[in-house]
Amino acid sequence: MRVQFSRRAGALPAILCGRVGAAPARLLSSPSGGGRGRAPFGNGCGGQARDGASFRGWLVSGIGRTLASPDRNRHRSGMETYRPRRSVLYVPASNDKALAKIAQLACDAVIIDLEDAVAPADKIAAREKLAGIFANRPGADRNGRRCEMVVRVNALSSEWGTEDLAAVAKAEPDGILLPKVDTPRDVLEVGDVLDDNFAPDSVKLWAMIETPKAMLNIGAIAELGRDPASRLDCFIAGTNDLIKDTGVQATPDRAYLLPWLMQMLLAARAGGLDMLDGVFNDFRDLDAFARECTQAAAMGFDGKTLIHPSQIEAANRAFAPSAQALAEARAVKDAFALAQNSGKGVIALNGRMVERLHLAQAEKLLAKAAAIGA
Ligand code: COA
Ligand code: MG
Repeated sequence: MRVQFSRRAGALPAILCGRVGAAPARLLSSPSGGGRGRAPFGNGCGGQARDGASFRGWLVSGIGRTLASPDRNRHRSGMETYRPRRSVLYVPASNDKALAKIAQLACDAVIIDLEDAVAPADKIAAREKLAGIFANRPGADRNGRRCEMVVRVNALSSEWGTEDLAAVAKAEPDGILLPKVDTPRDVLEVGDVLDDNFAPDSVKLWAMIETPKAMLNIGAIAELGRDPASRLDCFIAGTNDLIKDTGVQATPDRAYLLPWLMQMLLAARAGGLDMLDGVFNDFRDLDAFARECTQAAAMGFDGKTLIHPSQIEAANRAFAPSAQALAEARAVKDAFALAQNSGKGVIALNGRMVERLHLAQAEKLLAKAAAIGA
């Protein structure tokens, strides 16, 4: 019997509820179905509220399942599953000229935006374009990879959110980016809706971290990444909103944002998530943009979100391993491959101590380079 709760948007499932009656049987019987082991805790439409205690219970159960699961963190497990996200370009769903450009762009991913880049009067028309956009999505042209395609929906609490989600679930993008995530529940609710709508497991959730509340809850939100059933895969720093909502000054060195950015990064790593930096608004100043990319790469970010095609090249460069880092990684790998080092945990290489953790780091870097063709 599935525990049910009412979602924040109350009326959420007018559209999405249509198939809920059939969902429990599917979830319970299909090991690869959208429920993926969460059936006992999933929800339908309406019903009793998920209170604090049962919600915590859900989380604990979820974590327990996850720790026992061999595919935990599967997207981080090696070269074959590494997905570069160095350059992630927002493309307003209302801008036909920009949409037509996607196939020619060298970015690792695009975010088709239904939220802030689309004026209220254009929201419905923009949403209606999704089916056509995904029917013609570009093929594998990036070192054998396809450009990842994500859709940013309007918040579920907005007048557009519910129908956005229904349309996006049908389009089956690689990811759905949720704006204004405040709590783990905001992610779980959308995951449940996707499960109820038979969205394949390949549809991941990305979360904008852009509110003071999200910063206060960042560890709990990130922890969802440890449970594949949550679908959570990636955080994006929403720096413009954070500046707006907190009143901190936007300075070129981002002095007042850095503590929050590093906190996001730490939480993302704890949850096994990718972490992308916010946008750089002054898209004509490519030198300053490149400096911000260099800063974000040094901070450990996986990539940067972009607003203009002119920013792609610098982002791809900044978040790719440098020639020197690659040479060092190869040297570490070669050294541990030598017969005399086969059983050793620590060796000396060019006057430096190198441990097996450095070998793991080197292998990860080499896998990244292979994936991007560096
Ligand atoms: N994606 C794809 N193509 C884009 C693009 C984008 N984000 N931004 C611009 N282009 C295209 C333009 O359509 C134009 O194409 P054309 O050569 O065929 O005419 C070309 O790149 C050059 O554009 P440009 O004239 O320099 O910029 P613009 O004045 O048309 O647009 C912005 C500037 C900022 C309005 C536009 O880049 C944009 O809308 N960016 C995304 C904003 C967004 O999504 N914000 C929400 C998240 S923060
Ligand atoms: Mg925002």
